Amino acid sequence: MIPLRARHRYLDLFARYVAPEWRGLVVLGILIAASIGLQLVGPQLLRQFIDSAIKGADVDALVRIAILFVVIALGQQVASALATYLGESIGWVGTNALRADLALHCLTLDLGFHKARTPGELIERIDGDVTALAGFFSRFAVNVLGNLVLLIGVLVVVALEDWRAGVALTVFAAFGIALFLGPLRTIAVGGWRRVRETAAQTYGFLGERLGGTEDIRSSGAEVHVLNGLALHHREWLRSRRQAMFGVGLIWAATIVTFAVGNALAFAVGGWLWTMGAITVGTVYLLFYYTALLRRPIDAFRRELEDMQRAVASLGRIDQLLQTRSALVDGQQTLPDGPLAVDLDRVSFGYDAELVLHDVSVRIRAGRVLGILGRTGSGKTTLARLLLRFYDPTTGVVRLGGIDLRDASLDAVRSHATLVSQDVQLFHASIRENLTFFDDSIDDARIEAVVERIGLGTWLRRQSAIDPLRASMSAGGLSAGEAQLLAFARVFLRDPGLIVLDEASSRLDPVTERHVERAIDELLADRTAVVIAHRLATVDRCDDILVLAGGRVIEHGPREQLAADPRSRFSELLRVGLEEAVAS
Ligand SMILES: Nc1ncnc2c1ncn2[C@@H]1O[C@H](COP(=O)(O)OP(=O)(O)OP(=O)(O)O)[C@@H](O)[C@H]1O
Ligand SMILES: [Mg+2]
Repeated sequence: MIPLRARHRYLDLFARYVAPEWRGLVVLGILIAASIGLQLVGPQLLRQFIDSAIKGADVDALVRIAILFVVIALGQQVASALATYLGESIGWVGTNALRADLALHCLTLDLGFHKARTPGELIERIDGDVTALAGFFSRFAVNVLGNLVLLIGVLVVVALEDWRAGVALTVFAAFGIALFLGPLRTIAVGGWRRVRETAAQTYGFLGERLGGTEDIRSSGAEVHVLNGLALHHREWLRSRRQAMFGVGLIWAATIVTFAVGNALAFAVGGWLWTMGAITVGTVYLLFYYTALLRRPIDAFRRELEDMQRAVASLGRIDQLLQTRSALVDGQQTLPDGPLAVDLDRVSFGYDAELVLHDVSVRIRAGRVLGILGRTGSGKTTLARLLLRFYDPTTGVVRLGGIDLRDASLDAVRSHATLVSQDVQLFHASIRENLTFFDDSIDDARIEAVVERIGLGTWLRRQSAIDPLRASMSAGGLSAGEAQLLAFARVFLRDPGLIVLDEASSRLDPVTERHVERAIDELLADRTAVVIAHRLATVDRCDDILVLAGGRVIEHGPREQLAADPRSRFSELLRVGLEEAVAS
């Protein structure tokens, strides 16, 4: 029923995430067995009660039977409530561990993987698919087995009462199973899948449009957005109605089937009673057991549905877990202090087409290299290679003399930092935004850095009491402030190499002065690569590299290049960087 490979993976995942909960599983098994046993015993007492009452037994005896029945019914309810609780708990503990592992796995995958997928898709993998597994993990085996025992138990007990009744009930059960596990089972499944798809699409639509609120308002596209939303909702309603129709059909079929079953039980029971083969109590017993069959049949249908969903999810989860990062983590650590940078005949392409061609650049420790080049010339790409977001297609990148492929990713991340044009802010406190959730940095140091970088007044404005712990008001930062905040992050991590993809947008003169001063401080005692969009920035560089179409067309000390009237750099200085870069 389950494909072999999937079964193998199921067992694998089961062993890893559910087996540690084996004690809970054993208790769960006992609880389910108890609940089933009590369900079988209850009707026996009812029969005894009815038969004794008809025979005219004394009230005391009847009361004793009644009390025993109530106790058993209560016990059965308690056992099944505990079983439900325990089953859910095991399912969630196991799947939460799986969720955490999947999230961590995604975080370690390379940028190429993330560029190819939307965040929504990953959320669906990490949460949606795993949720589909929860029930399968905890209840599937126990429930199927338990209900099989209940079904067989009912049939055997009835057959022992009277073989003819046993045969009738077995035929009825076989018919019910064939009906509900056959044509009726899948009737609602497709509908629910469509409901989930439309829900995901609607949320995706809303998320994107809400993210672009500013643009939508300024372009007056609100009506268009509302129309789109109405269309999504109409589709949602349609698919939901279809799914609910399926559910209703199953429900109606259940009622009709079991009405027929009850009629059958009465007919067979009545016939056997008129022949004197059974008592009135036994007639009731047959009736009761027939109704009891609904539970296992319902459970089989649900579990089979769960299993289909789980198998599909397992496949996708497995695929994600099998995805390996294109970056293989190394062992070596990097030296402290300013790092020498060495690109040795580096070529690189995001796909088959190369974006960087045979780039060789050496930066001595502590020097500042300015990179100039038109848009699309490969500047950001070069920066990404320095931080090992990607490995070069050919050639070697070395930091502090160590091939990045041999260095541990942790070492690279702590010794080299990229300050990019867009500053990512988190819904967290200002402190956490500055330290990237590092608790080991003390407040005094953070405050000193914030002051030094020129954000002191801004910080004090955020809250009078404890501004570092005030929450970051996302969107409440100007472009200049965001840049300064990104610089503060760098100071707190104190890396030996900093790569600055300078903001190309214009800042107001006051902020600009702050930013310029902060950059000066930032570059002191560090090796730096500055992707320059302004001549003011190039001024502070020791060396200049000009890129065109992914090739180095000029590289040398800034002053020497500036003095040479034939150099590309001095030409850029003459016509102005902005014009040259934009042309
Ligand atoms: N993630 C990516 N996947 C595929 N191609 C990419 C990716 N990022 C950049 N490219 C391509 O690589 C080339 C170089 O891009 P890069 O971002 O390095 O340019 P840049 O010099 O930084 O430009 P800008 O000055 O506009 O920032 C471009 O042709 C671009 O289309
Ligand atoms: Mg760029």
